[in-house]
Amino acid sequence: MHFSVGILTVSDRAARGERADASGPVLAQLVRDHLPGAVLSHAAVVPDEADDIARTILAWCADGAHLILTTGGTGFAPRDVTPEAVAPLLERQAPGIVQAILQSSLRETPHAMLSRPVAGMRGRTLIITFPGSPKACRESFEAVQPALRHGLELLNEVSGADTRH
Ligand code: MTE
Repeated sequence: MHFSVGILTVSDRAARGERADASGPVLAQLVRDHLPGAVLSHAAVVPDEADDIARTILAWCADGAHLILTTGGTGFAPRDVTPEAVAPLLERQAPGIVQAILQSSLRETPHAMLSRPVAGMRGRTLIITFPGSPKACRESFEAVQPALRHGLELLNEVSGADTRH
């Protein structure tokens, strides 16, 4: 099965063109390299505005994205609103994914506790929020990658999806 993947960079400065979007391309490469069957279908850079984040994700869900990864806006700064924008869109939570990200990230840096990731499903779309730096994206992706494809197969009732490990 092919999975269409959207990558959403949330950053005021990148959206204004004041700095290049480094993390979106890093996530795109990780998906290409480590998620068999993935097709990058959507990509965008939006400012740290809940409306822009939610509108983009809803459009991609309606367009049939199987997986949406966001990067940025998960921290404590007043403008960090990605979790607040994404959480209301989730019909079912995926706390294990959040736990995997935090658990493995805390082994890398205590600053990981300053990220507030959310993950879950809206219809057949799995949505995961990653922190903003390329390093944090790499580490967070590594944490979820081992179960990602199987999760997507289950969510999409891919016949033959082996529910055993
Ligand atoms: N997670 C991992 N794995 N590696 C990191 O370097 N950086 C942290 C954290 N999560 C980090 C991490 C830092 S410094 C911050 S401020 C928060 O993510 C929030 O980042 P964001 O606001 O860019 O989303």
